Amino acid sequence: MYPQLKRGEVVANREIAPGIFLLGVRGKFAASPGQFYMLRAWELDPPLFRPMSVFALEEEAISFLYEVRGRGTGILSRLSPGKELLLLGPLGRGWDPPARPLALVAGGTGIAPIHFAAQIYGGDAFLGFRGKPYLVESFADWCRTVHVASETGEGGTKGLVTEIFRPEGYRTCFACGPEGMLRELYRLCSEAGVPLFVSVEERMACGLGACLGCAILTSRGPRRVCADGPVFPAEELWGDG
Ligand SMILES: Cc1cc2nc3c(=O)[nH]c(=O)nc-3n(C[C@H](O)[C@H](O)[C@H](O)COP(=O)(O)OP(=O)(O)OC[C@H]3O[C@@H](n4cnc5c(N)ncnc54)[C@H](O)[C@@H]3O)c2cc1C
Ligand code: FES
Repeated sequence: MYPQLKRGEVVANREIAPGIFLLGVRGKFAASPGQFYMLRAWELDPPLFRPMSVFALEEEAISFLYEVRGRGTGILSRLSPGKELLLLGPLGRGWDPPARPLALVAGGTGIAPIHFAAQIYGGDAFLGFRGKPYLVESFADWCRTVHVASETGEGGTKGLVTEIFRPEGYRTCFACGPEGMLRELYRLCSEAGVPLFVSVEERMACGLGACLGCAILTSRGPRRVCADGPVFPAEELWGDG
């Protein structure tokens, strides 16, 4: 599916936790799990689109889950229903159909692409939050089991998601979240011999593979996160080879 630049109408933009918004856009869109769109709801400043993973896809709508971090996401958070924004996508390479059983592990807004993977592939979800969990019930619609950890102990087991997840018994693990969480998962999955595929974030300019602004070094050489990723086998990022 080639990326297209489309205009979409906001149908909802709700703050579901402090600083975390769920944005719904009306229109016909396409994506596979782990892919993302570049969003823009402003004229000149900031100059670049902002990358956002697909949270969910329906026949006539697409949604994104985002945290307000700076100027771009601040503008997004002030969009009210009826307003328009530009969407460029679908972009990147996501998660291929997995060998099952599948474990889905996410931390914070890393739950966005993992939720879309759950919608398409199902599996067992392990979700980690800093404070009160959100959107857990939405995972229950798609997943066989949902396990929750939070650093405060609200709504789940007190602690980190890497403390409630055990990879033994799974044939594939998909994950997205802070790098520290992903590296610890890689350690756990390597010990258990379970292939881990992670979605990573980099600052992006074109989002189309042309500017090399998002290049990272992997065991297979330099790779563009926007075009060769954002999903990579964890061993290519952190393995010895
Ligand atoms: C493929 C991809 C998918 C993403 N999906 C999501 C998502 O589903 N939900 C979500 O909340 N965020 C997601 N992000 C991160 C999101 O794109 C950034 O938070 C956003 O671009 C920040 O824009 P801003 O103008 O608000 O902040 P800026 O003013 O540009 O920056 C504010 C702060 O955020 C940091 N930051 C900016 N861009 C990134 C980035 N790409 N990665 C890490 N830190 C960044 C900056 O270093 C700075 O500290 C994704 C990023 C990528 C590359
Ligand atoms: S953002 Fe331009 S190559 Fe990735």
